[in-house]
Amino acid sequence: MITNDLQTFIKKNIIDKNINSKYLETGFLEGRSAFEMLSLGFKKVVSIEIDENFVKEGEKKFSTFIKDQRLEIVKGDSAEKIPKYFSDEFDVIFLDAHGTTEKDLKGKSAPLERELKFILNKGLKDHQLLIIDDYIKIKHFYLFAYNGYDWRYLVRKTKNLIKKFDKNIYEIPYKNNSFLLVVGNDYKFSKNYFKNLFFKIYNLGFFSKYFIFLIKRIIKFYLKKILKKQV
Ligand SMILES: C[S@@+](CC[C@H](N)C(=O)[O-])C[C@H]1O[C@@H](n2cnc3c(N)ncnc32)[C@H](O)[C@@H]1O
Repeated sequence: MITNDLQTFIKKNIIDKNINSKYLETGFLEGRSAFEMLSLGFKKVVSIEIDENFVKEGEKKFSTFIKDQRLEIVKGDSAEKIPKYFSDEFDVIFLDAHGTTEKDLKGKSAPLERELKFILNKGLKDHQLLIIDDYIKIKHFYLFAYNGYDWRYLVRKTKNLIKKFDKNIYEIPYKNNSFLLVVGNDYKFSKNYFKNLFFKIYNLGFFSKYFIFLIKRIIKFYLKKILKKQV
């Protein structure tokens, strides 16, 4: 999902200026963000999805867009597919591939760092806008270290990779989450100060919820250790 504010920014600065704009995303799921971007006016949307069930459902649901060659759903691991599909032609790149309920796919369910390394190597052009979804969780990865295959913990080096981009970077909070925007020099992005402040305060709820879980896990861990010693 891409928030209304961000959609408005994309429409005004990208689509209204170039009717041939293209959008690349990783993580299709049920096609919500892809559909939003098709509706917004992108001429071409390419989405990479690892789970073939979502690919098949998407192909049925969006068959008209696919026939019209406005939508392409690529089946595969985005970390492997991005070198083939990423190019200067794309104006917006939305990185939203992560997590899975499929056991077999768990090992591949955190492609973000490999995606970013590739994009960093290739370089972002000034007309390109890179968006990383779920940044609040990525930034606070340490809250999710309890599950061996939790994608949020597996992408804990993301922050360091982001620092290497020679572009303007903004974190935009929204309800219980945030986007990270890497903005090319063609765009002037101005933060909505009051809205951002509101969501920063609102999102403290998200942080405190997971922080309490973390404290409980630490207490459990030490209690187990103490009890073991006593036996
Ligand atoms: C958060 S959902 C995407 C939501 C979608 N962009 C939207 O806004 O409606 C994440 C999706 O990424 C997919 N995924 C997980 N790991 C992936 C990988 N390595 N390559 C491609 N897709 C992946 C999952 O199967 C899931 O459908």
